[in-house]
Amino acid sequence: MNNLINFLKTRRSTTAKAMNAGHIKESDLNDILACGIRVPDHGALNPWYLTVIKDNARFRIGKEILATEYVLNNPEATEEDIDFEKNRFLRASAVVAVLFKPVSHPKIPSWEMELSTGAVCSNILVAAQSLGYAAQWLTEWYSYNERMIKEVGGKPETDKLAGFIYIGNKEKEPVERRRPKIENVINFLTE
Ligand SMILES: Cc1cc2nc3c(=O)[nH]c(=O)nc-3n(C[C@H](O)[C@H](O)[C@H](O)COP(=O)(O)O)c2cc1C
Repeated sequence: MNNLINFLKTRRSTTAKAMNAGHIKESDLNDILACGIRVPDHGALNPWYLTVIKDNARFRIGKEILATEYVLNNPEATEEDIDFEKNRFLRASAVVAVLFKPVSHPKIPSWEMELSTGAVCSNILVAAQSLGYAAQWLTEWYSYNERMIKEVGGKPETDKLAGFIYIGNKEKEPVERRRPKIENVINFLTE
């Protein structure tokens, strides 16, 4: 089996909970992002936009948006909840926000642009994991928050967050999770 197939057949996400922030090499991050934007994209419309949240921005956004918006939506939040929100992004070395930005086109439907945006997320995830980093694709509550959408360059009226790809270090390999049985999800038509 070639290395790429073997990797794709066995790779796993490491949850943000289980990862540590460490050093992400700039050349690795650039490679990961280059893979992220090299995706099938009908009409080459680039209907997506990436924002890399790293260094101090992880805590600034935690304080200014995650904690503040969490309290607005959960007035009963405890100090512990608020601290968790402030520090949420600090679990990763970098968090890549992937925004779906639909483009108006006479023939290419928005659905296909959404699919391309999902491919961006997958490529970032897989590229980061292939370099040995812990990585996870999350949406959680703040993907649906207007202030967060604006912070990462989106317009809440039209754009949607496809997710945040957390990239960090892992202490141990994640265990396998439940996978589908081939016969339940794949059909072969031969005639
Ligand atoms: C669009 C999308 C959003 C997700 N959002 C969450 C989330 O908010 N919380 C969560 O625990 N897992 C979420 N997940 C799932 C995790 O990334 C999960 O760890 C992953 O499916 C594990 O799969 P893997 O080991 O095959 O990479 C999401 C997955 C996708 C595709």
